Amino acid sequence: MPRYAITTFGCQMNVHDSERMHEVLRGAGYVESDDPRAADVVVLNTCSVREKAEQKLLSEVGRLAKLKRERPELVLVVAGCVAQQEGEKLLTRAPSIDLVVGPDNIPELPRLVDELSLGAPPLVRTVFDIEEPRFLTALSVAAGSPTAYVTIMKGCDERCSFCIVPYTRGPERYRPSDEIVAEIAALAAAGVREVTLLGQTVNSYNDPQKALPRAPGASADDPDESEFAALLRRIATEVPDLKRLRYTSPHPRHLTPSLIQAHAELSVLARHVHLPVQSGSDRILKRMIRRYTRAEYVTRTAALVRAVPDVALSTDIIVGFPGETDDDFAATLSLVREIGYKGLFGFKYSVRPYTPARKLPDDVPEAVKSERLARLFEASEELLGAHLRGLVGSGQRVLVEAEGKEGGASFSGRTERNEIVHIHGAEGLDLRGEIVDVSIVRANKHSLQGELTEAARAAARSLAPAAPKARAAGGRRSLPVLPVSPGGH
Ligand code: SAH
Ligand code: F3S
Repeated sequence: MPRYAITTFGCQMNVHDSERMHEVLRGAGYVESDDPRAADVVVLNTCSVREKAEQKLLSEVGRLAKLKRERPELVLVVAGCVAQQEGEKLLTRAPSIDLVVGPDNIPELPRLVDELSLGAPPLVRTVFDIEEPRFLTALSVAAGSPTAYVTIMKGCDERCSFCIVPYTRGPERYRPSDEIVAEIAALAAAGVREVTLLGQTVNSYNDPQKALPRAPGASADDPDESEFAALLRRIATEVPDLKRLRYTSPHPRHLTPSLIQAHAELSVLARHVHLPVQSGSDRILKRMIRRYTRAEYVTRTAALVRAVPDVALSTDIIVGFPGETDDDFAATLSLVREIGYKGLFGFKYSVRPYTPARKLPDDVPEAVKSERLARLFEASEELLGAHLRGLVGSGQRVLVEAEGKEGGASFSGRTERNEIVHIHGAEGLDLRGEIVDVSIVRANKHSLQGELTEAARAAARSLAPAAPKARAAGGRRSLPVLPVSPGGH
């Protein structure tokens, strides 16, 4: 049987797309190879959101080109955002590439590889499915993890001035709510405990079926309203077995009263929201075309915190956007402290092709960008450190996701607020996929250390073996535990 290997760069959307590529290739009779050097088909699922990510791809292609000289029959596939963005140009830049395939063309992967093996010249397939958008459903039997991602929308209509995503992922397209609910129900039935809804602006969701009743709190004449809260309510009602529901990434302007009310009322919603802010300066927010002011962001998050008092907020921030002064950056730092983020991804601005901001001079020197990023991380580490230390001695509910790796921990998982907890002293127990009560005994730099409570230990010992549990069937990988701490996407 032919063997394949997939390397994934970038965001959760790419992780999700790679999962679908695994399924499509396995469905066509391929088997996964642990070692890309032994594979017949090697797929690089790429990211182009920042310049650095793109360079990573080209150096990886260089390494594989050498391998290809030894094994000319190797099929080298570039998928994802660089594929969509560069298309045919990639074939000229890197002649060792055989196939360039965009994010909307994943189902065609086996057919295209077949064509190549029949002698076709290098192929490029990067067509958006605008008329009839396809959302590939996870094969729940292959879930293999207590957590899963479910795509509810793709593309982005926001066009923030710095961002290439609207060009690599196309316009917004939404998935019918029936399909979303059916996929989540199937995952829950297969033992998945936590689902993260995915979309570039996940909370701009509107049901193409028009099957959702208006959510409480939704105003008919608020242009920022969407049907996202109504979708959350439908999922909560129709999939009662689901233990936790998350979503990423929302856009601040769609953090509307109906969504805040859903957070107050739906216990399945995790008490963590990743809400990218990008900057704390109104002048820069305007140049970024973010469509909110600092004050609006603060007011909306304050309303969320009133509704869910211990909700944890995390964010994305860009430093060194064209024209960013010391004062603008000081405003960002003050916002970070004012909101008290529990996690932060910080990025140096990099010019991206096609984006409106490419016409602005990239005038913040590299050294200043580095210094601002370091100060940003310092502030965020301080906030996270103080927060984690404050949790020592508390009890937390942890969804156990994986066997422990760090410092002798038996398992690791996350709280509802997304804090990572390493659980010690649970050897011999089978906790994966369980939600357990843990006493926090120590704070590490980016995570917590905990021990099972006596009651949780007794319950774990008597666990019914018949309970459906997402197993790593057939050796499938589990999805990574995402850090809430600085470190980049
Ligand atoms: N809505 C998307 C955002 C995708 S981009 C989501 O679901 O996450 C992820 C983050 O990368 C953005 O929030 C932004 O902080 C950062 N980013 C995007 N374009 C960038 C650029 N040109 N330079 C630096 N950082 C950028
Ligand atoms: Fe990018 Fe802004 Fe959309 S950051 S993904 S254009 S919301």
